[in-house]
Amino acid sequence: MSKHQQFLYALLAVVSVLVLSVEGQGVGVDGHPVTCPEFTPHSELNITELVGVWYGASRSPAHKFACVEMKVALTKNDTMVKLTTSHAALNSTLLNTVKEAMVNVADLTNPNGFTVLYNSTDEKPFIYKIIEIDPDKKYAVMCGYTSPEIGDESFGLIMTGERIADKKWLQAIKDEASKRFADFAKDSVVDIQQSDKCASSAEVAVPVLSTILGVVYSLLRFMH
Ligand SMILES: *[C@@H]1O[C@H](CO)[C@@H](O)[C@H](O)[C@H]1NC(C)=O
Ligand SMILES: *[C@@H]1O[C@H](CO)[C@@H](O)[C@H](O)[C@H]1NC(C)=O
Ligand SMILES: *[C@@H]1O[C@H](CO)[C@@H](O)[C@H](O)[C@H]1NC(C)=O
Ligand SMILES: *[C@@H]1O[C@H](CO)[C@@H](O)[C@H](O)[C@H]1NC(C)=O
Repeated sequence: MSKHQQFLYALLAVVSVLVLSVEGQGVGVDGHPVTCPEFTPHSELNITELVGVWYGASRSPAHKFACVEMKVALTKNDTMVKLTTSHAALNSTLLNTVKEAMVNVADLTNPNGFTVLYNSTDEKPFIYKIIEIDPDKKYAVMCGYTSPEIGDESFGLIMTGERIADKKWLQAIKDEASKRFADFAKDSVVDIQQSDKCASSAEVAVPVLSTILGVVYSLLRFMH
């Protein structure tokens, strides 16, 4: 390597460190993206921003569902939140699963997260944390994990207010999340299949692959 090259590499190293330290604001104390258990959610949450319909946009790791949507409603005199989640099988637009979970409103801001246990038989409870809700309800960022006793799985999830999110806009949200949160590592976040054909009626649902939009595997597209 020539002196000139050595200088360039040294300069590059310094610049990288500077960039990382600027971008690193909001990450863990040791400079690494925080894991979901480490993350402390905001102590205040405007529930109105959460109420409505959200569509699954990106998830890490990928799961086996398409057309994911989650309705969030207040119930029991506004003391409980009802989550109603529907999804289709991969490469399908037929919403064949509906499941619901109830969460106490007071638990949503619990520093240790809140437990979501859906009523379907094959579900295990996950601890969720809301990382961010866009005040305009355009997107919400969440993460979740199981306890170590039941497998120690964790996930990162980006929901959007529109079923089909603009790809560039979504990419910017993913990029930002990946800097701060371990569950959004760039090589693991996969866009959830969504389509304007997603529907709960067999008559309108056309399980044809070409109707599914937005399947982007972000795998290995980025430098680490
Ligand atoms: C909560 O969010 C709603 C909808 O975005 C907004 O209208 C309301 O002003 C917010 N309330 C507070 C206390 O910020
Ligand atoms: C519903 O909540 C409001 C405000 O907290 C309270 O004043 C009211 O008594 C509650 N109603 C019932 C039926 O519990
Ligand atoms: C979905 O389609 C892709 C691309 O054709 C295929 O590789 C994959 O196996 C399909 N998945 C399922 C669950 O059918
Ligand atoms: C779970 O709740 C959904 C929505 O209310 C309902 O359609 C479904 O039948 C329930 N499933 C079970 C197994 O109870």
